Amino acid sequence: MDKKVTVVGAGNVGATTAQRLAEKELCDVVLIDIIEGVPQGKALDLAEAAPIEKHDAHLTGSNNYDASAGSDIIIITAGIPRKPGMSRDDLISTNAKIMEGVTMQVTNLSPDAILIIVSNPLDIMCHIAYETSGFPKNRVIGMSGVLDSARFRAFIAMELDVSVEDIHALVLGGHGDTMVPLPRCSTVAGIPITELLSKEKINALVERTRNGGAEIVGLLKTGSAFYAPASAAVKMAESILKDKKKILPCAAYLEGEYGINDLFIGVPVKLGANGIEDIIQITLTDEEKAALQKSARAVETLKNK
Ligand code: NAI
Ligand code: 2OP
Repeated sequence: MDKKVTVVGAGNVGATTAQRLAEKELCDVVLIDIIEGVPQGKALDLAEAAPIEKHDAHLTGSNNYDASAGSDIIIITAGIPRKPGMSRDDLISTNAKIMEGVTMQVTNLSPDAILIIVSNPLDIMCHIAYETSGFPKNRVIGMSGVLDSARFRAFIAMELDVSVEDIHALVLGGHGDTMVPLPRCSTVAGIPITELLSKEKINALVERTRNGGAEIVGLLKTGSAFYAPASAAVKMAESILKDKKKILPCAAYLEGEYGINDLFIGVPVKLGANGIEDIIQITLTDEEKAALQKSARAVETLKNK
C-alpha cells in the first residue's frame, strides 16, 4: 500500500483498528505496544487472515518505534481503559504520562504525520499530544463525536426499526457525561427525528447516548467498548487517507470558535489530506449553546487539575 498508519496500543481498540484498516485495504499497518510479543503476535495473526479476507495490506508488530517511521497517520490508543465504577476522568494521571511518552516517540520519527487520539480522557489527551508534539492544530484530532453520534444513530434506528444507513446524527462537546447530542440536527432520510419521535423518547435516547460508554463497561466488566471505537477511528483515518473531506464531529483545538478558547472539544470538522481542513460553525439555539459551554467548562476543569 502507498499509505502507512501506525496504531500505538495493541489492546482491544488498537488491534481492532488495525484489523479494520487492513481489511479495508486503506494502508499498511504497524502495531506498537510495550508488551513484548503482543503487537507481533496480533499483527501476524491478522496477516494470516489476509488470504481469507482477501487484502494485501502489510501488517507489522513491534515494541520498537523505529517500525513506525514515516507514517502518514498515527492512531494513539495506548493507555488503560476504565472498569465498572470508574469514569473516563479517573484515567487521567496514568494515561497522561503514557500519552506524553508515546507522542514524543512517534512524532520524532513521523514529523509530518496526522495524530488521531483515542485514549481517555479524550479531550485532555488531545491537549497533551498537541503540546508535546508541537504539531499544528490541524494535525491533532480526537476521536469522540464519530463514536458518540454512531451510538445515537444506532439507538434511533433501534427505536424506529429503520435502517441505520439512513440515519445521520450530530453529537458535540467533550467526550464525557456532558456531551451534547443535537436532536435538531439528527435525521432519518433527511427527516429530523423531532418529527418522528416524542420529546420524552428523544430525551431517553439522548441520555442513553451520554451513558453509552458506561453501558458497555457495565456489561463487559473487564474493560470498555472497542468495536465501535475502532470503527470510528478508521472512519476518520479513511477520510484523511482518501482526502474525502467528510464532515465529522471530532475533538479539535478551538481558538474562539463557538466562543471557546484554548481547548480541545467536539465540533463538526472537515477531514481531508491535511487533517482538519475546516471547523464548521453552526448556529446553536440558546439551550444548545449553554449545554456546549457547560461541557467546555467540564473539560477545562479537568485540564486545569
Ligand atoms: P486495552 O487495555 O485493551 O489496550 C491498551 C493497550 O495500551 C495495552 O495493550 C497496553 O499494553 C498498551 N500500552 C500501555 N502503555 C503503553 C505505552 N506506554 N506504549 C505503548 N502501548 C502501551 O485498552 P483499550 O480498550 O484498547 O482502550 C485504550 C484506550 O482508549 C483507553 O484509554 C480507553 O479509555 C480509550 N478509549 C477511548 C474511546 C474514545 O471514544 N475516545 C473509546 C474506547 C476506548
Ligand atoms: C467509550 O465511550 C470508553 O470512551 C470510551 O466507550
